[in-house]
Amino acid sequence: MNYLLTRSAIRCVVAGGKSSRWPLDDVSVARGEGLGVLVGHWRRRMSTVPEHAAAPEKEKKESGEVVVKEEKSDQPKVSSYWGISKGKIVREDGSEWPWNCFMPYDTYQSNTSIDLTKHHEPKVFLDKVAFRTVKILRIPTDIFFQRRYGCRAMMLETVAAVPGMVGGMLLHLRSLRKFQLSGGWIKALLEEAENERMHLMTMVELVQPKWYERLLVLTVQGVFFNAFFVLYMLSPKLAHRIVGYLEEEAIHSYTEYLKDINSGAIENVPAPAIAIDYWRLPKDATLKDVIIVIRADEAHHRDVNHFASDIHFQGKELREAPAPLGYH
Ligand SMILES: [Fe+2]
Ligand SMILES: [Fe+2]
Repeated sequence: MNYLLTRSAIRCVVAGGKSSRWPLDDVSVARGEGLGVLVGHWRRRMSTVPEHAAAPEKEKKESGEVVVKEEKSDQPKVSSYWGISKGKIVREDGSEWPWNCFMPYDTYQSNTSIDLTKHHEPKVFLDKVAFRTVKILRIPTDIFFQRRYGCRAMMLETVAAVPGMVGGMLLHLRSLRKFQLSGGWIKALLEEAENERMHLMTMVELVQPKWYERLLVLTVQGVFFNAFFVLYMLSPKLAHRIVGYLEEEAIHSYTEYLKDINSGAIENVPAPAIAIDYWRLPKDATLKDVIIVIRADEAHHRDVNHFASDIHFQGKELREAPAPLGYH
Protein backbone atom coordinates (compact mmCIF):
# COMPACT_ATOMS: atom_id res chain seq x y z
CA MET A 1 0.00 0.00 0.00
CA ASN A 2 2.80 2.39 0.96
CA TYR A 3 4.51 1.61 -2.34
CA LEU A 4 1.37 2.62 -4.25
CA LEU A 5 0.97 5.82 -2.25
CA THR A 6 4.59 6.75 -2.80
CA ARG A 7 4.18 6.13 -6.52
CA SER A 8 1.07 8.31 -6.60
CA ALA A 9 2.84 11.09 -4.76
CA ILE A 10 5.78 10.99 -7.19
CA ARG A 11 3.37 10.98 -10.14
CA CYS A 12 1.62 14.05 -8.72
CA VAL A 13 4.85 15.92 -8.24
CA VAL A 14 5.90 15.12 -11.80
CA ALA A 15 2.53 16.09 -13.23
CA GLY A 16 1.46 19.03 -11.16
CA GLY A 17 4.37 20.55 -9.34
CA LYS A 18 4.06 21.69 -5.73
CA SER A 19 0.27 22.07 -5.57
CA SER A 20 -0.20 18.35 -5.50
CA ARG A 21 -3.68 16.77 -5.63
CA TRP A 22 -2.36 14.17 -3.18
CA PRO A 23 -1.01 16.03 -0.18
CA LEU A 24 1.41 13.36 0.92
CA ASP A 25 4.85 14.14 2.04
CA ASP A 26 7.67 11.66 2.29
CA VAL A 27 7.52 11.65 6.07
CA SER A 28 3.85 10.69 6.26
CA VAL A 29 4.35 7.97 3.69
CA ALA A 30 7.35 6.66 5.55
CA ARG A 31 5.38 6.69 8.82
CA GLY A 32 2.59 4.70 7.26
CA GLU A 33 0.21 7.67 7.62
CA GLY A 34 -0.46 7.80 3.89
CA LEU A 35 -3.90 6.20 3.96
CA GLY A 36 -5.12 8.43 6.80
CA VAL A 37 -3.95 11.58 5.02
CA LEU A 38 -5.50 10.41 1.76
CA VAL A 39 -8.87 9.69 3.40
CA GLY A 40 -8.80 13.05 5.14
CA HIS A 41 -7.97 14.81 1.90
CA TRP A 42 -10.70 12.91 0.05
CA ARG A 43 -13.24 13.96 2.71
CA ARG A 44 -12.06 17.55 2.38
CA ARG A 45 -12.53 17.39 -1.42
CA MET A 46 -16.02 15.94 -1.01
CA SER A 47 -17.02 18.71 1.42
CA THR A 48 -18.60 21.99 0.35
CA VAL A 49 -17.32 23.71 3.46
CA PRO A 50 -14.46 26.17 2.93
CA GLU A 51 -11.12 24.68 3.84
CA HIS A 52 -10.27 27.40 6.35
CA ALA A 53 -13.49 26.64 8.23
CA ALA A 54 -12.92 22.89 8.31
CA ALA A 55 -9.48 23.08 9.90
CA PRO A 56 -9.32 24.29 13.51
CA GLU A 57 -6.66 26.86 14.28
CA LYS A 58 -3.37 25.33 15.34
CA GLU A 59 -0.50 26.80 17.28
CA LYS A 60 3.03 25.47 17.48
CA LYS A 61 4.66 25.58 20.90
CA GLU A 62 8.39 26.13 21.34
CA SER A 63 8.70 22.44 22.15
CA GLY A 64 7.29 21.67 18.70
CA GLU A 65 4.00 20.32 20.09
CA VAL A 66 0.99 21.36 18.02
CA VAL A 67 -1.96 22.63 20.09
CA VAL A 68 -5.44 22.85 18.56
CA LYS A 69 -7.09 26.07 19.73
CA GLU A 70 -10.64 25.76 21.07
CA GLU A 71 -13.19 27.75 19.10
CA LYS A 72 -15.09 30.39 21.01
CA SER A 73 -18.55 29.05 21.83
CA ASP A 74 -20.36 32.12 20.45
CA GLN A 75 -18.85 31.67 17.01
CA PRO A 76 -20.23 29.33 14.34
CA LYS A 77 -18.27 26.06 14.17
CA VAL A 78 -18.70 25.95 10.40
CA SER A 79 -18.99 28.85 8.01
CA SER A 80 -20.71 28.33 4.71
CA TYR A 81 -21.42 30.04 1.43
CA TRP A 82 -25.10 29.15 2.00
CA GLY A 83 -25.46 31.49 4.95
CA ILE A 84 -27.04 28.95 7.27
CA SER A 85 -26.32 29.67 10.90
CA LYS A 86 -27.92 28.81 14.21
CA GLY A 87 -28.28 32.35 15.49
CA LYS A 88 -28.10 33.33 19.11
CA ILE A 89 -30.44 31.17 21.18
CA VAL A 90 -30.56 31.52 24.93
CA ARG A 91 -32.35 29.85 27.82
CA GLU A 92 -34.79 31.78 29.99
CA ASP A 93 -31.93 32.53 32.40
CA GLY A 94 -29.91 34.08 29.55
CA SER A 95 -27.36 31.26 29.24
CA GLU A 96 -26.50 30.00 25.78
CA TRP A 97 -28.61 27.17 24.34
CA PRO A 98 -26.16 24.31 23.84
CA TRP A 99 -28.21 21.90 21.72
CA ASN A 100 -28.49 21.69 17.97
CA CYS A 101 -30.68 18.59 17.99
CA PHE A 102 -33.68 20.31 19.57
CA MET A 103 -34.73 23.88 20.23
CA PRO A 104 -36.37 25.50 23.27
CA TYR A 105 -39.77 25.31 21.54
CA ASP A 106 -39.42 21.49 21.36
CA THR A 107 -39.09 21.22 25.13
CA TYR A 108 -42.01 20.63 27.48
CA GLN A 109 -43.03 19.86 31.02
CA SER A 110 -44.28 16.33 31.22
CA ASN A 111 -47.79 15.62 32.45
CA THR A 112 -46.87 13.04 35.07
CA SER A 113 -50.42 12.88 36.41
CA ILE A 114 -51.47 10.70 33.47
CA ASP A 115 -53.14 7.42 34.49
CA LEU A 116 -50.42 4.76 34.27
CA THR A 117 -52.77 1.86 34.95
CA LYS A 118 -54.98 2.19 31.87
CA HIS A 119 -55.07 -1.00 29.86
CA HIS A 120 -56.84 -2.00 26.67
CA GLU A 121 -58.60 -5.28 27.35
CA PRO A 122 -57.98 -7.60 24.38
CA LYS A 123 -61.42 -8.86 23.35
CA VAL A 124 -61.42 -9.32 19.58
CA PHE A 125 -59.11 -11.67 17.71
CA LEU A 126 -56.67 -9.03 16.43
CA ASP A 127 -56.31 -7.49 19.89
CA LYS A 128 -55.50 -10.90 21.33
CA VAL A 129 -52.89 -11.46 18.59
CA ALA A 130 -51.32 -8.09 19.42
CA PHE A 131 -51.36 -8.74 23.17
CA ARG A 132 -49.85 -12.24 22.83
CA THR A 133 -47.20 -11.00 20.36
CA VAL A 134 -45.99 -8.40 22.86
CA LYS A 135 -46.03 -10.88 25.74
CA ILE A 136 -43.96 -13.34 23.66
CA LEU A 137 -41.52 -10.59 22.67
CA ARG A 138 -41.02 -9.80 26.34
CA ILE A 139 -39.71 -13.28 27.18
CA PRO A 140 -36.29 -12.98 25.46
CA THR A 141 -36.00 -9.41 26.76
CA ASP A 142 -36.54 -10.57 30.35
CA ILE A 143 -34.03 -13.41 29.90
CA PHE A 144 -31.36 -11.22 28.30
CA PHE A 145 -31.57 -8.13 30.52
CA GLN A 146 -33.21 -9.42 33.73
CA ARG A 147 -33.13 -6.44 36.14
CA ARG A 148 -30.48 -4.42 34.30
CA TYR A 149 -33.04 -1.71 33.62
CA GLY A 150 -30.57 0.87 32.32
CA CYS A 151 -29.39 -1.42 29.51
CA ARG A 152 -32.91 -2.70 28.98
CA ALA A 153 -34.35 0.79 28.57
CA MET A 154 -31.56 1.88 26.25
CA MET A 155 -32.00 -1.15 24.00
CA LEU A 156 -35.79 -0.95 23.97
CA GLU A 157 -35.74 2.73 23.05
CA THR A 158 -33.81 1.83 19.90
CA VAL A 159 -36.86 -0.24 18.92
CA ALA A 160 -39.52 2.10 20.30
CA ALA A 161 -38.45 4.95 18.03
CA VAL A 162 -39.13 2.89 14.89
CA PRO A 163 -42.97 2.54 14.69
CA GLY A 164 -43.71 6.28 14.73
CA MET A 165 -41.22 6.86 11.93
CA VAL A 166 -42.58 3.97 9.82
CA GLY A 167 -46.22 5.00 10.41
CA GLY A 168 -45.48 8.67 9.75
CA MET A 169 -43.54 7.82 6.59
CA LEU A 170 -46.28 5.57 5.21
CA LEU A 171 -48.98 8.17 5.97
CA HIS A 172 -46.80 10.78 4.28
CA LEU A 173 -46.55 8.65 1.14
CA ARG A 174 -50.27 7.95 1.27
CA SER A 175 -50.99 11.67 1.51
CA LEU A 176 -48.86 12.23 -1.61
CA ARG A 177 -50.48 9.38 -3.53
CA LYS A 178 -54.05 10.28 -2.66
CA PHE A 179 -53.70 14.09 -2.67
CA GLN A 180 -55.19 14.09 0.82
CA LEU A 181 -54.51 15.89 4.07
CA SER A 182 -53.38 13.58 6.85
CA GLY A 183 -55.31 15.37 9.59
CA GLY A 184 -52.04 15.97 11.43
CA TRP A 185 -51.30 12.29 11.97
CA ILE A 186 -48.04 12.34 10.01
CA LYS A 187 -46.71 14.98 12.36
CA ALA A 188 -48.14 13.28 15.45
CA LEU A 189 -46.43 9.97 14.65
CA LEU A 190 -43.15 11.63 13.73
CA GLU A 191 -43.33 13.57 17.02
CA GLU A 192 -43.64 10.24 18.80
CA ALA A 193 -40.60 8.87 16.98
CA GLU A 194 -38.59 11.95 17.89
CA ASN A 195 -39.73 11.78 21.51
CA GLU A 196 -38.63 8.13 21.69
CA ARG A 197 -35.28 9.04 20.14
CA MET A 198 -34.81 11.66 22.87
CA HIS A 199 -35.42 8.90 25.43
CA LEU A 200 -32.59 7.00 23.77
CA MET A 201 -30.29 10.04 23.67
CA THR A 202 -30.92 10.43 27.41
CA MET A 203 -30.41 6.76 28.27
CA VAL A 204 -27.19 6.57 26.31
CA GLU A 205 -25.79 9.32 28.56
CA LEU A 206 -26.39 6.99 31.50
CA VAL A 207 -25.48 3.63 30.01
CA GLN A 208 -22.74 3.11 27.46
CA PRO A 209 -23.65 0.26 25.11
CA LYS A 210 -21.15 -2.56 24.77
CA TRP A 211 -20.06 -3.86 21.39
CA TYR A 212 -22.37 -6.88 21.48
CA GLU A 213 -25.31 -4.64 22.44
CA ARG A 214 -24.58 -2.42 19.43
CA LEU A 215 -24.53 -5.55 17.29
CA LEU A 216 -27.86 -6.62 18.76
CA VAL A 217 -29.35 -3.20 17.96
CA LEU A 218 -28.22 -3.52 14.34
CA THR A 219 -29.83 -6.94 14.00
CA VAL A 220 -33.04 -6.08 15.82
CA GLN A 221 -33.47 -2.82 13.91
CA GLY A 222 -32.96 -4.58 10.58
CA VAL A 223 -35.62 -7.16 11.39
CA PHE A 224 -38.06 -4.93 13.28
CA PHE A 225 -38.08 -2.02 10.81
CA ASN A 226 -38.90 -4.29 7.87
CA ALA A 227 -41.41 -6.40 9.80
CA PHE A 228 -43.24 -3.33 11.10
CA PHE A 229 -43.18 -1.69 7.67
CA VAL A 230 -44.91 -4.70 6.11
CA LEU A 231 -47.31 -5.04 9.04
CA TYR A 232 -48.32 -1.36 8.87
CA MET A 233 -49.10 -1.69 5.17
CA LEU A 234 -51.15 -4.84 5.74
CA SER A 235 -52.95 -3.85 8.95
CA PRO A 236 -52.36 -0.46 10.57
CA LYS A 237 -54.93 -1.31 13.25
CA LEU A 238 -52.90 -4.34 14.35
CA ALA A 239 -49.65 -2.38 14.09
CA HIS A 240 -50.95 0.43 16.33
CA ARG A 241 -52.44 -2.08 18.77
CA ILE A 242 -49.10 -3.87 19.10
CA VAL A 243 -47.39 -0.53 19.77
CA GLY A 244 -50.08 0.29 22.34
CA TYR A 245 -49.28 -2.93 24.21
CA LEU A 246 -45.53 -2.35 23.83
CA GLU A 247 -46.01 1.02 25.50
CA GLU A 248 -47.92 -0.69 28.35
CA GLU A 249 -44.87 -2.94 28.80
CA ALA A 250 -42.59 0.11 28.70
CA ILE A 251 -44.60 1.67 31.56
CA HIS A 252 -44.16 -1.57 33.53
CA SER A 253 -40.39 -1.64 32.83
CA TYR A 254 -39.89 1.97 33.92
CA THR A 255 -41.98 1.32 37.06
CA GLU A 256 -39.63 -1.56 37.93
CA TYR A 257 -36.67 0.72 37.16
CA LEU A 258 -38.06 3.26 39.67
CA LYS A 259 -38.49 0.53 42.28
CA ASP A 260 -34.78 -0.31 41.98
CA ILE A 261 -33.84 3.36 42.27
CA ASN A 262 -36.02 3.75 45.37
CA SER A 263 -34.55 0.63 46.98
CA GLY A 264 -30.98 1.80 46.27
CA ALA A 265 -30.21 -1.10 43.93
CA ILE A 266 -29.64 1.50 41.19
CA GLU A 267 -27.83 4.71 42.10
CA ASN A 268 -29.93 7.83 41.75
CA VAL A 269 -27.31 9.78 39.80
CA PRO A 270 -27.76 13.39 38.62
CA ALA A 271 -29.91 13.75 35.50
CA PRO A 272 -28.07 14.23 32.20
CA ALA A 273 -27.97 17.84 30.95
CA ILE A 274 -29.89 16.91 27.80
CA ALA A 275 -32.78 15.58 29.91
CA ILE A 276 -32.88 18.68 32.12
CA ASP A 277 -33.29 20.91 29.09
CA TYR A 278 -35.65 18.65 27.10
CA TRP A 279 -38.14 18.08 29.94
CA ARG A 280 -37.51 21.46 31.62
CA LEU A 281 -36.43 19.70 34.80
CA PRO A 282 -34.87 21.54 37.75
CA LYS A 283 -31.08 21.83 37.64
CA ASP A 284 -30.70 19.41 40.54
CA ALA A 285 -32.94 16.77 38.93
CA THR A 286 -31.89 13.15 39.27
CA LEU A 287 -32.24 9.90 37.35
CA LYS A 288 -35.49 9.24 39.24
CA ASP A 289 -37.03 12.48 37.88
CA VAL A 290 -35.94 11.49 34.38
CA ILE A 291 -37.46 8.02 34.60
CA ILE A 292 -40.74 9.50 35.90
CA VAL A 293 -41.08 11.83 32.89
CA ILE A 294 -40.05 9.14 30.41
CA ARG A 295 -42.65 6.79 31.90
CA ALA A 296 -45.27 9.52 31.51
CA ASP A 297 -44.25 9.86 27.83
CA GLU A 298 -44.76 6.12 27.37
CA ALA A 299 -48.24 6.41 28.84
CA HIS A 300 -49.04 9.12 26.29
CA HIS A 301 -47.71 6.92 23.47
CA ARG A 302 -49.90 4.09 24.78
CA ASP A 303 -52.98 6.31 24.50
CA VAL A 304 -52.06 7.60 21.03
CA ASN A 305 -51.53 4.12 19.60
CA HIS A 306 -54.58 2.47 21.17
CA PHE A 307 -56.61 5.49 19.98
CA ALA A 308 -55.21 5.08 16.43
CA SER A 309 -56.05 1.39 16.47
CA ASP A 310 -59.59 2.14 17.74
CA ILE A 311 -60.12 4.56 14.83
CA HIS A 312 -59.25 1.78 12.38
CA PHE A 313 -61.44 -0.70 14.27
CA GLN A 314 -64.35 1.70 13.74
CA GLY A 315 -63.72 1.45 9.99
CA LYS A 316 -62.37 4.97 9.69
CA GLU A 317 -59.10 6.50 8.60
CA LEU A 318 -56.80 8.29 11.00
CA ARG A 319 -57.29 11.63 9.22
CA GLU A 320 -60.98 11.55 10.19
CA ALA A 321 -60.10 11.86 13.90
CA PRO A 322 -58.23 14.66 15.65
CA ALA A 323 -54.49 14.04 15.62
CA PRO A 324 -52.92 14.15 19.09
CA LEU A 325 -50.35 16.81 18.17
CA GLY A 326 -48.04 17.81 21.01
CA TYR A 327 -49.52 15.03 23.17
CA HIS A 328 -46.52 14.00 25.28
FE1 LIG B 1 -39.50 5.51 25.12
FE1 LIG C 1 -43.04 4.99 23.97
